[in-house]
Amino acid sequence: KQPLRIGLIGFGCVGQGFYDILQQHPGLGLTVASIAVKNPDKPRPLSADRFTYHADELLNDPTLDVLVEVIDDAAEAFRLVSAALRQGRRVVTANKAMLARHLPELLQLEQQHGGVLLYEAAVCGSIPIIRTLDAYFSHEPLRSVRGIFNGSSNYVLTRMSEEGSDYATALAEAQALGFAETDPSLDMGAFDPRSKAVILAAHAYGVLLNPDDVLNLGIEAVGAADIAYAAARGQKVKVVASLQRLPNGRVAALVTPQLLGPESPLFTVEHEFNGVVVEGEYAGPQFLRGRGAGGHPTGSAVLADVLALRRGLRYGYTKQAAAPAVQPAENLSLDV
Ligand code: HSE
Repeated sequence: KQPLRIGLIGFGCVGQGFYDILQQHPGLGLTVASIAVKNPDKPRPLSADRFTYHADELLNDPTLDVLVEVIDDAAEAFRLVSAALRQGRRVVTANKAMLARHLPELLQLEQQHGGVLLYEAAVCGSIPIIRTLDAYFSHEPLRSVRGIFNGSSNYVLTRMSEEGSDYATALAEAQALGFAETDPSLDMGAFDPRSKAVILAAHAYGVLLNPDDVLNLGIEAVGAADIAYAAARGQKVKVVASLQRLPNGRVAALVTPQLLGPESPLFTVEHEFNGVVVEGEYAGPQFLRGRGAGGHPTGSAVLADVLALRRGLRYGYTKQAAAPAVQPAENLSLDV
């Protein structure tokens, strides 16, 4: 049997993590046939002849079976992914900012042209939350989905609560460890977890929220005094994203710092880990916890999607149009 030929667009932290795992598992029947990167001058761990500097070459190569897009430029990612879907291709992306803005158009392109788009790696790194919502909870009315969806800000908060680490040092560590976005204000200002909340709302409730309608407050205004105040009460400051079904059937979404006590499962989520509590009407609450950032955990989620594509997986979106989208002000009625 011929190996599945992958076109890899992007060779940063996630792209390298994915590539590295594949090299360690040659028996999977997958081969990275082409790699496209932007900058020819950047030092890279593979020889220069492995790379092209024109991602469009991959779009124009009919021998590639799957395109994997792991760049951080959301506009360029949308251009490439939408062009690939217009060709009816199978695509894996990890670009949460792009998905949160363009999911409705991408779903339409997927349906019109018969392609497939999977994006487990875009939300909570290694935690299989999209599959869980899309497949397992497809029948279940969900009361709420709450969680810590950003590894970098959670890492900074964790380090700041330990002795001798301040905000700037902790942020520099999160960057050095490959957790942070190229523009770390997306992490610290909670724009990144807001994108993830928008994506999960599509799978949990079938609503396509506009990210601009979801209030996001990050940790830039959280200081050592706030962390000490929380600690004195046996609590921690965490940035929690909440999706909740309102009594009127609509869905509210919010991302804000909150004080959590040990009664919350999210209290145990430290460093770059993410956690999600899904509360089903019948199943009750469930908690998933895992590494939410970093090359290998996120690369592992990308690889899981490539293997799932080969098995024929596509998302069901069974809850599509189950509830109307929320009005921005209604988000503030959410019970945090
Ligand atoms: N910058 C993101 C985070 C990476 O810190 O969670 C994973 O999406």
